[in-house]
Amino acid sequence: MSVLLLGNSVQITEINETLKQVAPTDVSVLITGESGSGKEVVAKSIHQMSRRSDKPLITVNCGAIPEGIIESELFGHQKGAFTGAIEERKGYFEMADKGTIFLDEIGEMPLSTQVKFLRVLETGEFMKVGGNKNISVDVRIVAATNKDLAAEVLMKHFRDDLYYRLRSINIYIPPLRERKSDIKLLFGHFTELYSKENNIDFKGIEDDAMDFLINYTWPGNARELKNFCESIIVLNPGKRLTLHDVKKHLQTDQKEITSSLPIIIGKSRENAEKDFLFRALLEIKSDILDIKDQITELRSFGNGNEKRDTDFTISEERFSKMNMYDIEKEVLIYLLDRNYWDVEKTSEILDQTPRSIYNKIKKYNISKEILRRDR
Ligand SMILES: Nc1ncnc2c1ncn2[C@@H]1O[C@H](COP(=O)(O)OP(=O)(O)OP(=O)(O)O)[C@@H](O)[C@H]1O
Ligand SMILES: [Mg+2]
Repeated sequence: MSVLLLGNSVQITEINETLKQVAPTDVSVLITGESGSGKEVVAKSIHQMSRRSDKPLITVNCGAIPEGIIESELFGHQKGAFTGAIEERKGYFEMADKGTIFLDEIGEMPLSTQVKFLRVLETGEFMKVGGNKNISVDVRIVAATNKDLAAEVLMKHFRDDLYYRLRSINIYIPPLRERKSDIKLLFGHFTELYSKENNIDFKGIEDDAMDFLINYTWPGNARELKNFCESIIVLNPGKRLTLHDVKKHLQTDQKEITSSLPIIIGKSRENAEKDFLFRALLEIKSDILDIKDQITELRSFGNGNEKRDTDFTISEERFSKMNMYDIEKEVLIYLLDRNYWDVEKTSEILDQTPRSIYNKIKKYNISKEILRRDR
Protein backbone atom coordinates (compact mmCIF):
# COMPACT_ATOMS: atom_id res chain seq x y z
CA MET A 1 0.00 0.00 0.00
CA SER A 2 1.37 3.40 -0.92
CA VAL A 3 0.75 6.05 1.70
CA LEU A 4 2.53 9.21 0.68
CA LEU A 5 2.70 12.62 2.30
CA LEU A 6 0.07 15.07 1.23
CA GLY A 7 1.56 18.11 -0.49
CA ASN A 8 2.43 19.45 -3.93
CA SER A 9 5.55 21.44 -3.04
CA VAL A 10 8.88 20.47 -4.58
CA GLN A 11 10.10 19.42 -1.12
CA ILE A 12 7.18 17.06 -0.41
CA THR A 13 7.39 15.62 -3.93
CA GLU A 14 11.06 14.84 -3.30
CA ILE A 15 10.30 13.30 0.11
CA ASN A 16 7.66 11.09 -1.49
CA GLU A 17 10.17 9.96 -4.14
CA THR A 18 12.67 9.09 -1.41
CA LEU A 19 9.94 7.25 0.52
CA LYS A 20 9.14 5.10 -2.49
CA GLN A 21 12.81 4.13 -2.82
CA VAL A 22 13.60 3.65 0.85
CA ALA A 23 10.42 2.19 2.36
CA PRO A 24 10.59 -1.27 0.72
CA THR A 25 14.17 -1.81 1.95
CA ASP A 26 15.36 -2.55 5.50
CA VAL A 27 17.65 0.48 5.90
CA SER A 28 17.26 2.57 9.02
CA VAL A 29 15.92 6.07 8.51
CA LEU A 30 16.28 9.26 10.51
CA ILE A 31 13.39 11.72 10.13
CA THR A 32 13.99 15.32 11.15
CA GLY A 33 11.86 18.45 11.14
CA GLU A 34 10.13 20.91 13.43
CA SER A 35 7.31 19.86 15.71
CA GLY A 36 4.08 19.18 13.83
CA SER A 37 5.77 18.94 10.43
CA GLY A 38 4.74 15.32 9.80
CA LYS A 39 7.55 13.09 11.11
CA GLU A 40 5.16 10.51 12.50
CA VAL A 41 3.24 10.50 9.22
CA VAL A 42 6.50 9.66 7.43
CA ALA A 43 7.37 6.92 9.93
CA LYS A 44 3.96 5.30 9.42
CA SER A 45 4.30 5.57 5.64
CA ILE A 46 7.66 3.81 5.75
CA HIS A 47 6.14 0.94 7.70
CA GLN A 48 2.99 0.71 5.60
CA MET A 49 4.92 0.78 2.33
CA SER A 50 7.33 -1.93 3.49
CA ARG A 51 7.11 -5.71 3.31
CA ARG A 52 6.64 -5.54 7.10
CA SER A 53 3.29 -3.77 6.90
CA ASP A 54 1.34 -6.73 8.28
CA LYS A 55 3.73 -7.00 11.25
CA PRO A 56 3.79 -4.65 14.26
CA LEU A 57 4.87 -1.03 14.16
CA ILE A 58 6.01 -0.25 17.70
CA THR A 59 6.26 3.45 18.52
CA VAL A 60 8.47 4.45 21.44
CA ASN A 61 8.70 8.02 22.65
CA CYS A 62 12.23 8.12 24.06
CA GLY A 63 11.57 11.48 25.71
CA ALA A 64 8.65 10.15 27.73
CA ILE A 65 10.37 7.19 29.40
CA PRO A 66 12.29 7.91 32.63
CA GLU A 67 16.04 7.40 32.26
CA GLY A 68 16.13 4.68 34.93
CA ILE A 69 13.79 2.31 33.08
CA ILE A 70 14.42 3.05 29.41
CA GLU A 71 16.83 0.12 28.90
CA SER A 72 14.43 -2.34 30.45
CA GLU A 73 11.58 -0.91 28.33
CA LEU A 74 13.58 -1.16 25.10
CA PHE A 75 15.47 -4.39 25.64
CA GLY A 76 13.43 -6.15 28.33
CA HIS A 77 14.73 -7.63 31.57
CA GLN A 78 15.38 -10.95 33.27
CA LYS A 79 13.47 -11.96 36.35
CA GLY A 80 15.27 -10.50 39.40
CA ALA A 81 17.35 -8.06 37.33
CA PHE A 82 16.39 -5.30 39.75
CA THR A 83 14.02 -4.75 42.65
CA GLY A 84 10.52 -5.11 41.29
CA ALA A 85 11.52 -7.29 38.30
CA ILE A 86 9.30 -10.12 39.46
CA GLU A 87 9.17 -11.80 36.11
CA GLU A 88 10.99 -11.80 32.79
CA ARG A 89 9.76 -9.13 30.42
CA LYS A 90 10.07 -8.58 26.69
CA GLY A 91 11.28 -5.20 25.53
CA TYR A 92 10.00 -3.16 22.58
CA PHE A 93 12.73 -4.47 20.26
CA GLU A 94 11.56 -8.04 20.81
CA MET A 95 7.90 -7.03 20.45
CA ALA A 96 8.74 -5.39 17.12
CA ASP A 97 10.47 -8.52 15.77
CA LYS A 98 9.81 -8.85 12.00
CA GLY A 99 8.19 -5.41 12.08
CA THR A 100 9.34 -1.83 12.57
CA ILE A 101 10.32 0.11 15.65
CA PHE A 102 9.79 3.88 15.56
CA LEU A 103 12.04 5.61 18.08
CA ASP A 104 10.54 9.06 18.41
CA GLU A 105 12.48 11.89 20.06
CA ILE A 106 15.71 9.94 19.66
CA GLY A 107 17.64 13.05 20.75
CA GLU A 108 16.33 12.39 24.28
CA MET A 109 17.83 8.90 24.51
CA PRO A 110 20.35 8.79 27.41
CA LEU A 111 24.00 8.39 26.37
CA SER A 112 24.33 5.04 28.16
CA THR A 113 21.36 3.62 26.22
CA GLN A 114 22.74 4.99 22.95
CA VAL A 115 25.68 2.55 23.18
CA LYS A 116 23.34 -0.42 23.38
CA PHE A 117 21.15 0.97 20.63
CA LEU A 118 24.10 1.43 18.28
CA ARG A 119 24.89 -2.23 18.76
CA VAL A 120 21.35 -3.24 17.75
CA LEU A 121 21.65 -1.03 14.69
CA GLU A 122 24.89 -2.67 13.66
CA THR A 123 24.34 -6.31 14.61
CA GLY A 124 20.62 -6.71 15.31
CA GLU A 125 21.60 -8.09 18.74
CA PHE A 126 21.24 -7.02 22.35
CA MET A 127 21.07 -8.41 25.88
CA LYS A 128 18.19 -8.02 28.29
CA VAL A 129 18.85 -6.06 31.46
CA GLY A 130 20.32 -8.61 33.85
CA GLY A 131 20.63 -11.14 31.05
CA ASN A 132 23.74 -12.89 29.76
CA LYS A 133 22.79 -14.17 26.35
CA ASN A 134 22.49 -12.30 23.08
CA ILE A 135 19.05 -11.93 21.60
CA SER A 136 18.79 -11.48 17.88
CA VAL A 137 15.91 -9.59 16.27
CA ASP A 138 14.84 -8.67 12.75
CA VAL A 139 13.64 -5.11 13.25
CA ARG A 140 13.53 -2.17 10.88
CA ILE A 141 14.58 0.99 12.71
CA VAL A 142 13.06 4.41 12.09
CA ALA A 143 14.01 7.31 14.35
CA ALA A 144 12.83 10.91 14.54
CA THR A 145 13.77 14.12 16.27
CA ASN A 146 13.01 17.81 16.15
CA LYS A 147 16.38 18.55 17.74
CA ASP A 148 19.49 19.54 15.89
CA LEU A 149 21.42 16.31 16.43
CA ALA A 150 24.65 17.82 15.07
CA ALA A 151 24.48 20.42 17.86
CA GLU A 152 23.70 17.69 20.40
CA VAL A 153 26.82 15.86 19.23
CA LEU A 154 28.89 19.03 19.67
CA MET A 155 27.57 19.38 23.20
CA LYS A 156 28.36 15.71 23.86
CA HIS A 157 24.71 14.86 24.50
CA PHE A 158 24.55 12.52 21.56
CA ARG A 159 27.17 9.99 20.45
CA ASP A 160 28.88 10.92 17.21
CA ASP A 161 29.19 7.32 15.98
CA LEU A 162 25.44 6.80 16.44
CA TYR A 163 24.70 10.11 14.73
CA TYR A 164 26.80 9.25 11.67
CA ARG A 165 25.25 5.80 11.50
CA LEU A 166 21.71 7.16 11.78
CA ARG A 167 21.92 10.09 9.44
CA SER A 168 23.01 8.06 6.40
CA ILE A 169 19.37 8.13 5.27
CA ASN A 170 17.86 11.34 6.59
CA ILE A 171 14.42 12.56 5.57
CA TYR A 172 14.13 16.23 6.51
CA ILE A 173 10.65 17.74 6.44
CA PRO A 174 10.90 21.51 5.98
CA PRO A 175 8.58 23.72 8.04
CA LEU A 176 5.24 24.58 6.45
CA ARG A 177 6.23 28.26 6.01
CA GLU A 178 8.98 27.12 3.63
CA ARG A 179 6.60 25.13 1.44
CA LYS A 180 3.75 27.54 1.07
CA SER A 181 2.23 25.75 -1.91
CA ASP A 182 1.19 22.91 0.44
CA ILE A 183 -0.92 25.18 2.63
CA LYS A 184 -3.88 25.44 0.25
CA LEU A 185 -3.89 21.70 -0.41
CA LEU A 186 -3.70 20.79 3.29
CA PHE A 187 -6.35 23.38 4.11
CA GLY A 188 -8.65 21.74 1.52
CA HIS A 189 -7.90 18.30 2.92
CA PHE A 190 -8.44 19.18 6.59
CA THR A 191 -11.57 21.27 6.01
CA GLU A 192 -13.12 18.43 4.04
CA LEU A 193 -12.15 15.96 6.75
CA TYR A 194 -13.66 18.00 9.58
CA SER A 195 -16.75 19.17 7.75
CA LYS A 196 -17.58 15.51 7.04
CA GLU A 197 -16.65 14.35 10.53
CA ASN A 198 -18.82 17.00 12.18
CA ASN A 199 -21.50 16.98 9.51
CA ILE A 200 -21.05 20.70 8.89
CA ASP A 201 -21.52 22.40 5.54
CA PHE A 202 -18.29 24.15 4.50
CA LYS A 203 -18.76 27.10 2.15
CA GLY A 204 -15.12 27.81 1.33
CA ILE A 205 -12.85 30.75 1.98
CA GLU A 206 -12.35 34.23 0.44
CA ASP A 207 -9.18 34.73 -1.63
CA ASP A 208 -7.66 37.35 0.68
CA ALA A 209 -8.25 35.08 3.69
CA MET A 210 -6.49 32.23 1.88
CA ASP A 211 -3.58 34.58 1.04
CA PHE A 212 -3.33 35.41 4.72
CA LEU A 213 -3.11 31.72 5.61
CA ILE A 214 -0.46 31.20 2.94
CA ASN A 215 1.66 34.00 4.39
CA TYR A 216 1.16 33.10 8.05
CA THR A 217 4.26 31.52 9.67
CA TRP A 218 2.59 28.37 11.09
CA PRO A 219 4.98 27.82 14.01
CA GLY A 220 3.09 24.61 14.84
CA ASN A 221 3.29 23.49 11.19
CA ALA A 222 0.73 21.01 9.77
CA ARG A 223 -0.57 20.24 13.27
CA GLU A 224 -1.42 23.90 13.80
CA LEU A 225 -3.13 24.10 10.41
CA LYS A 226 -5.10 20.95 11.18
CA ASN A 227 -6.24 22.27 14.57
CA PHE A 228 -7.05 25.62 12.98
CA CYS A 229 -9.24 23.96 10.32
CA GLU A 230 -11.11 21.91 12.89
CA SER A 231 -11.96 24.79 15.17
CA ILE A 232 -12.73 27.37 12.49
CA ILE A 233 -15.17 24.97 10.84
CA VAL A 234 -16.88 24.16 14.10
CA LEU A 235 -17.10 27.83 15.09
CA ASN A 236 -18.34 29.12 11.70
CA PRO A 237 -20.82 26.52 10.44
CA GLY A 238 -22.15 27.12 6.94
CA LYS A 239 -20.23 30.41 6.55
CA ARG A 240 -17.81 31.41 3.81
CA LEU A 241 -14.66 32.33 5.72
CA THR A 242 -13.46 35.93 5.46
CA LEU A 243 -10.13 37.57 6.24
CA HIS A 244 -11.67 38.88 9.44
CA ASP A 245 -12.70 35.36 10.59
CA VAL A 246 -9.26 34.00 9.90
CA LYS A 247 -7.41 36.86 11.59
CA LYS A 248 -9.70 36.74 14.59
CA HIS A 249 -9.14 33.05 14.89
CA LEU A 250 -5.39 33.00 14.46
CA GLN A 251 -4.94 35.89 16.90
CA THR A 252 -1.55 36.47 15.35
CA ASP A 253 -0.59 39.28 17.60
CA GLN A 254 -1.72 39.13 21.15
CA LYS A 255 -1.65 37.40 24.46
CA GLU A 256 -5.17 36.03 24.63
CA ILE A 257 -3.79 33.62 22.08
CA THR A 258 -3.77 30.62 24.43
CA SER A 259 -7.09 31.23 26.07
CA SER A 260 -8.80 31.79 22.72
CA LEU A 261 -8.06 28.28 21.58
CA PRO A 262 -11.01 25.94 21.85
CA ILE A 263 -10.82 23.23 24.46
CA ILE A 264 -10.48 19.85 22.84
CA ILE A 265 -13.00 17.40 24.17
CA GLY A 266 -13.14 13.67 23.56
CA LYS A 267 -9.70 13.40 21.95
CA SER A 268 -7.35 10.48 22.44
CA ARG A 269 -4.75 10.97 25.16
CA GLU A 270 -1.99 11.33 22.57
CA ASN A 271 -3.85 14.03 20.69
CA ALA A 272 -4.73 15.79 23.91
CA GLU A 273 -1.03 15.78 24.83
CA LYS A 274 -0.11 17.18 21.42
CA ASP A 275 -2.69 19.91 21.83
CA PHE A 276 -1.33 20.64 25.27
CA LEU A 277 2.18 20.96 23.84
CA PHE A 278 0.89 23.15 21.07
CA ARG A 279 -0.69 25.46 23.64
CA ALA A 280 2.61 25.50 25.55
CA LEU A 281 4.35 26.62 22.36
CA LEU A 282 1.87 29.40 21.93
CA GLU A 283 2.53 30.43 25.50
CA ILE A 284 6.22 30.67 24.70
CA LYS A 285 5.31 32.86 21.77
CA SER A 286 3.28 35.02 24.08
CA ASP A 287 6.28 35.23 26.47
CA ILE A 288 8.43 36.39 23.60
CA LEU A 289 5.88 39.07 22.83
CA ASP A 290 6.15 40.10 26.48
CA ILE A 291 9.91 40.37 26.16
CA LYS A 292 9.35 42.43 23.05
CA ASP A 293 7.12 44.76 25.07
CA GLN A 294 9.71 45.03 27.81
CA ILE A 295 12.42 45.85 25.34
CA THR A 296 10.23 48.44 23.69
CA GLU A 297 9.68 49.97 27.12
CA LEU A 298 13.40 49.87 27.88
CA ARG A 299 14.03 51.60 24.62
CA SER A 300 11.52 54.33 25.22
CA PHE A 301 12.82 54.99 28.74
CA GLY A 302 16.14 55.46 27.10
CA ASN A 303 19.53 56.30 28.38
CA GLY A 304 20.11 54.58 31.72
CA ASN A 305 23.75 54.44 32.76
CA GLU A 306 23.82 50.67 32.74
CA LYS A 307 23.22 50.62 29.04
CA ARG A 308 25.91 50.45 26.46
CA ASP A 309 26.15 52.32 23.21
CA THR A 310 25.09 49.11 21.48
CA ASP A 311 21.55 49.85 22.67
CA PHE A 312 18.57 48.10 21.11
CA THR A 313 17.52 50.22 18.18
CA ILE A 314 14.87 48.85 15.89
CA SER A 315 12.19 51.00 14.42
CA GLU A 316 8.62 50.40 15.54
CA GLU A 317 7.73 49.88 11.91
CA ARG A 318 10.26 47.09 11.45
CA PHE A 319 9.23 45.46 14.70
CA SER A 320 5.60 45.31 13.65
CA LYS A 321 6.57 43.37 10.51
CA MET A 322 8.65 40.79 12.36
CA ASN A 323 7.37 37.27 12.90
CA MET A 324 7.94 35.19 16.05
CA TYR A 325 11.25 33.80 14.77
CA ASP A 326 12.62 37.22 13.84
CA ILE A 327 11.67 38.50 17.27
CA GLU A 328 13.27 35.58 19.06
CA LYS A 329 16.45 35.99 17.04
CA GLU A 330 16.52 39.72 17.65
CA VAL A 331 15.99 39.26 21.40
CA LEU A 332 18.82 36.72 21.49
CA ILE A 333 21.22 38.94 19.57
CA TYR A 334 20.37 41.83 21.85
CA LEU A 335 20.86 39.88 25.08
CA LEU A 336 24.01 38.10 23.93
CA ASP A 337 25.54 41.38 22.92
CA ARG A 338 24.50 43.07 26.13
CA ASN A 339 25.91 40.24 28.21
CA TYR A 340 29.17 39.92 26.30
CA TRP A 341 28.18 36.55 24.81
CA ASP A 342 27.59 35.02 28.22
CA VAL A 343 25.25 32.18 27.26
CA GLU A 344 24.71 31.10 30.85
CA LYS A 345 23.53 34.58 31.87
CA THR A 346 21.43 34.99 28.72
CA SER A 347 19.75 31.67 29.39
CA GLU A 348 18.93 32.74 32.95
CA ILE A 349 17.35 35.98 31.76
CA LEU A 350 15.21 34.07 29.28
CA ASP A 351 14.48 31.31 31.79
CA GLN A 352 15.75 28.66 29.42
CA THR A 353 18.53 26.10 29.57
CA PRO A 354 21.95 27.05 28.18
CA ARG A 355 21.55 24.08 25.85
CA SER A 356 18.44 25.52 24.25
CA ILE A 357 20.21 28.86 23.84
CA TYR A 358 23.10 27.10 22.07
CA ASN A 359 20.57 25.37 19.82
CA LYS A 360 19.01 28.69 18.96
CA ILE A 361 22.38 30.32 18.30
CA LYS A 362 23.00 27.55 15.82
CA LYS A 363 19.49 27.62 14.38
CA TYR A 364 19.65 31.36 13.72
CA ASN A 365 23.28 31.25 12.69
CA ILE A 366 24.23 33.90 15.22
CA SER A 367 27.96 34.56 15.53
CA LYS A 368 30.01 37.22 17.25
CA GLU A 369 30.78 38.54 13.77
CA ILE A 370 27.06 39.05 13.08
CA LEU A 371 26.72 40.80 16.42
CA ARG A 372 29.48 43.22 15.55
CA ARG A 373 28.26 43.76 12.01
CA ASP A 374 24.63 44.33 12.96
CA ARG A 375 25.19 46.62 15.90
N1 LIG B 1 1.63 16.08 4.78
C1 LIG B 1 0.64 15.86 5.63
N2 LIG B 1 -0.54 15.44 5.18
C2 LIG B 1 -1.58 15.23 6.03
N3 LIG B 1 -1.51 15.41 7.37
C3 LIG B 1 -0.35 15.82 7.86
C4 LIG B 1 0.78 16.06 7.03
N4 LIG B 1 1.80 16.46 7.81
C5 LIG B 1 1.34 16.45 9.07
N5 LIG B 1 0.03 16.07 9.11
C6 LIG B 1 -0.81 15.97 10.31
O1 LIG B 1 -0.34 16.93 11.23
C7 LIG B 1 -0.28 16.40 12.54
C8 LIG B 1 1.14 16.46 13.05
O2 LIG B 1 1.94 15.53 12.31
P1 LIG B 1 2.97 14.56 13.05
O3 LIG B 1 2.39 14.04 14.32
O4 LIG B 1 3.45 13.56 12.05
O5 LIG B 1 4.11 15.64 13.38
P2 LIG B 1 5.53 15.43 14.07
O6 LIG B 1 6.54 16.00 13.15
O7 LIG B 1 5.68 13.99 14.46
O8 LIG B 1 5.40 16.37 15.35
P3 LIG B 1 6.10 16.25 16.80
O9 LIG B 1 7.56 16.60 16.60
O10 LIG B 1 5.41 17.28 17.61
O11 LIG B 1 5.90 14.85 17.29
C9 LIG B 1 -0.84 14.99 12.46
O12 LIG B 1 -2.19 15.02 12.81
C10 LIG B 1 -0.67 14.62 11.01
O13 LIG B 1 -1.65 13.71 10.61
MG1 LIG C 1 5.81 13.12 16.34
